[in-house]
Amino acid sequence: MCGIVGILGSEPVAGNILEALKRLEYRGYDSAGIATLENGRIARRRAAGKLKNLEAALDAEPLFGHLGIGHTRWATHGRPTADNAHPHLNGQVAVVHNGIIENFRALRDELEAKGHKFTSETDTEVVAHLVDDAIKSGLSPSDAVAASLPRLKGAFALAFIFEGEEDLLIGARQGAPLVVGFGAGERAGELYLGSDALALAPLTDELAYLEEGDHVVLTRQGAKFYDESNQPVARKRIRTAASAFLIDKGNYRHFMAKEIHEQPEVVARTLAHCLDLAAGTVALPFELPVDAASLPRLTIAACGTAFMAGLVSRYWFERIAKLPVEIEVASEFRYREAPMEKGGLMLLISQSGETADTLASLRYAKKCGQKVLSVVNVATSTMARESDVAALTLAGPEIGVASTKAFTCQLALLACLALAFGKARGTVDAKEEARLVAALMAVPGLIAEALKREAAVETLSRDLAKARDVLYLGRGTSYPLALEGALKLKEISYIHAEGYAAGELKHGPIALVDSDLPVIVIAPRDKVFEKTLSNLQEVAARNGRIILISETGAVDHLGAEGEEIGMPEMAPDFSAIVYAVPVQLIAYHTAVFMGKDADQPRNLAKSVTVE
Ligand code: G6P
Repeated sequence: MCGIVGILGSEPVAGNILEALKRLEYRGYDSAGIATLENGRIARRRAAGKLKNLEAALDAEPLFGHLGIGHTRWATHGRPTADNAHPHLNGQVAVVHNGIIENFRALRDELEAKGHKFTSETDTEVVAHLVDDAIKSGLSPSDAVAASLPRLKGAFALAFIFEGEEDLLIGARQGAPLVVGFGAGERAGELYLGSDALALAPLTDELAYLEEGDHVVLTRQGAKFYDESNQPVARKRIRTAASAFLIDKGNYRHFMAKEIHEQPEVVARTLAHCLDLAAGTVALPFELPVDAASLPRLTIAACGTAFMAGLVSRYWFERIAKLPVEIEVASEFRYREAPMEKGGLMLLISQSGETADTLASLRYAKKCGQKVLSVVNVATSTMARESDVAALTLAGPEIGVASTKAFTCQLALLACLALAFGKARGTVDAKEEARLVAALMAVPGLIAEALKREAAVETLSRDLAKARDVLYLGRGTSYPLALEGALKLKEISYIHAEGYAAGELKHGPIALVDSDLPVIVIAPRDKVFEKTLSNLQEVAARNGRIILISETGAVDHLGAEGEEIGMPEMAPDFSAIVYAVPVQLIAYHTAVFMGKDADQPRNLAKSVTVE
């Protein structure tokens, strides 16, 4: 989703803005632009498509200003053309924007009636006109921003520069994150704005996050924060670890491949955070925000792959902790007006901690008197800050748009949570705890084993790349994995895929089965293994092409033709975390064979900050 960068610098800023935008590429975008102040006048370069196009535009016509803003745009209102790319200008004002101005139509009508002429199809341009209108009415640029912000409805972050104002950069936040960075050492005195800490990581590690409704006025004297009532406020400066993470692909062709291969390490790190490895017990690094023993129900909401993690965890919470679970995609949950009994617990799962619908579900649950626990990967995210407890996955920054290591870390953490709830509710005794903890501790090693099957997956993917449709089947926790497999394949290879509960096959999808349809079956040796195999007879009888992901040799029990991705032996309890790996590898290699950009698939965004 859109990325924002602003630099109030002591040397030409366009190069550093471009570098920072590159670090935001992972969020997904389809056009980009930069504006700087050149001898007091705003100059901008914009380009549709990837940043290399913007780079070429800058090479052809360089910018030298010491103050500037930049943007990567993920199109919502208006096509991804250069004309719709940010920054947008009007009069004295240049603005970049992340999010949606919901009342832009009414504002645009009002401004057009006053004679304003618009040059783009975007909702953003209205902000430049509104603020310029306020300046023309006699307000200073910072007063004009303060006066305009209350008129904007929706969730957004904004950054402004102004013609003739060499020492002024303004940022505003309402629903989409924005952070201020403070230069140090040879960059002392420089100030930055960014959508996240990663964008600013090479420039500074000293940050202050804007709170909801804040705006910030940056001059070379420093940063002045104002709250939603335009009152001066102090916002804490923190040091972030983001700069410690090098955002490069190492020896991998794509971030997605690198992130898939990081899983043994990051899952181990997340587990070590939640387990006492020496004692073989669960030991969460936070207090549960509710009395787990008397908790009537757990409600879960999330989006995309994080939702799939929630679906897997439902089996664990119900089976291990005997805790009833309600789960829903956040975009539905937020509007369902689900009654929530006081004393309940809402669990949100989100890699970014910024997904608009998940955040709205969090706020709805709070309004309903729920305690809120969020499983997030970004410690400084809005969800982390607004939750009663933020349980951190330690996956490190995830750059590939399709979530991989964040997913398995979410699963690892959710497994530990289910275990902790089981202990507190008396459904797991010490012996069972030791057994389950041992099963969890084996997971990183098993993931490493599963990664060794990559060559087999590559061979298979070469063939899958020719398929028009692919069906994924599974039972138990393999059912949400089947959904995740189909989602991953769709996301990055654009092959149509569907995930189904294996038992539902005969209620519809069996009509699709013929010798052209690859059917990928996720079947660890768990208590529903035999049932899944018998469903496969229904596929075999119709000449479907079976690809079995199961313990090595399981295909011999199929009693039918089938290919196999052989997995190591393991306890069934948390096998979903390990079986996620071949599912990810299949999508990745298929996309690569098809020549698709696995890291930045078309139309997708990493952090979806609009609803
Ligand atoms: C987008 C991403 C997915 C991600 C989902 C939820 O759709 O492309 O990879 O699973 O958002 O994001 P979150 O940050 O809330 O986990």
